[in-house]
Amino acid sequence: PAEPTAESTKFDFVVVANRLPIDRIQDADGEPEWRRSPGGLVTALAPVMATADGAWVGWHGAADEELGEFNHSDMHLVPVPLSVEDVELYYEGFSNSTLWPLYHDVIVPPEFHRTWWDRYEEINRRFAEATARTAAPGATVWVQDYQLQLVPLMLREARPDLRIGFFNHIPFPPLEIFAQLPWRRQVLEGLLGSDLVGFQRQSDANNFMRCVRRYLGYTVKAQHIHVQDAGGAPQRICRAEAHPISIESRELARLATDPEIRARAAEIRAELGNPETVLLGVDRLDYTKGIRHRIKAFGELLEDGKLTVGQACLVQVASPSRERVESYAQLREEVEGAVGRINGEFDTMGHTAVRYLHHSYPLREMVALYLAADVMLVTALRDGMNLVAKEFTATHTDNHGMLVLSEFAGAADQLRHAVLVNPHDIDGLKAAIMTAVNMPQAESTRRMRIMRRQIAVNDVARWSRIFLESLAAGHEED
Ligand code: G6P
Repeated sequence: PAEPTAESTKFDFVVVANRLPIDRIQDADGEPEWRRSPGGLVTALAPVMATADGAWVGWHGAADEELGEFNHSDMHLVPVPLSVEDVELYYEGFSNSTLWPLYHDVIVPPEFHRTWWDRYEEINRRFAEATARTAAPGATVWVQDYQLQLVPLMLREARPDLRIGFFNHIPFPPLEIFAQLPWRRQVLEGLLGSDLVGFQRQSDANNFMRCVRRYLGYTVKAQHIHVQDAGGAPQRICRAEAHPISIESRELARLATDPEIRARAAEIRAELGNPETVLLGVDRLDYTKGIRHRIKAFGELLEDGKLTVGQACLVQVASPSRERVESYAQLREEVEGAVGRINGEFDTMGHTAVRYLHHSYPLREMVALYLAADVMLVTALRDGMNLVAKEFTATHTDNHGMLVLSEFAGAADQLRHAVLVNPHDIDGLKAAIMTAVNMPQAESTRRMRIMRRQIAVNDVARWSRIFLESLAAGHEED
């Protein structure tokens, strides 16, 4: 063909993530087409992409399908194919049955399988090669999340001219837990291929630096890691920093004033039978989210008569996630069993105790739900950040309502004025829920206002700007 292949084009800014920022949908005629994914990361990076000649390397979400490179929403997309077996071993296996539970406090036992590790390495190399082909000389590359921890070093070896940033969206575990990973050295070395490794919390960065000291013996001073070559000679500096991610605060606040969405919020409350207090949980159906703890606490409050059906209702949105992974299938059984028991016991003809929705919803419906809620329950047992906590707060532009927030979510570092809770402490969780339900309005208004300002200033655009500035500045220092 006469047309130049897209492969010959090189880009100055390349984002690498397990998933491409697009979803396949069906248009009006039932034909498949692409739509930009909702979510903060892509909205934050889209403007950077447009001005900096950017490309995004990632998997498009379907197995056993090869796609060519294409442009969409002002971004150049470079699809990395995964076979059915790659999905099983690299994605469901090593990423989501080894690393995910290991990095989330071993809430379920991580599984260690050499075949999974081998495939993780192989797929990381596939991503690194696609990136090396895509990046222009001296380009900036930003690698995202735990699925791709080996990419920075692989990329540096192939392309020493690049400046490489990595951001870990999930927690980084304490040394005593990370120690279990049979491939702990390789993972640390992989990450250290970056110039800058970003974490959600300072404690995550500290955990990482402690692991680097212990398992690689490198000197670490003031967040500067002195990376050595194979012979032990000083090679270069990698920095570890906290960069808490955020949301598109202004857009959420704007949606919250949209008359149609406000009407929908009122409609939701009416559909629930106009209870005095709507409690809300919104999560991917994941064992890290503490959904069972939340439902247990709510059920006991009904049993104790502190809350009654009709007066209070818990809406739990649990969006389907990683359904082929055994621990997720099991969690679904447990959550649905618990909801069924509570509803069986406490529902009346007219009212339900727990309105459980195993769906995902478009952003506008989510904002309506946030607005319909009085008390938001974020009870994660461990969570890198938790953007739901920030979204709820940002949409309550009238400062109405209150957030109950787990201290084990990264968001607790920023949202200090929430009702903070240890979700393992069921009595403490019950007390926290009642504190939020009964909080005098002057007090909740004051707290919501402070939290809303925090989020308004620290939005996701600022997050990516500061990370990329730090990545660029570190390079000049060198
Ligand atoms: C978390 C991870 C992301 C991941 C998302 C959805 O937020 O940090 O990397 O994309 O969950 O999970 P999935 O496995 O569907 O990509």
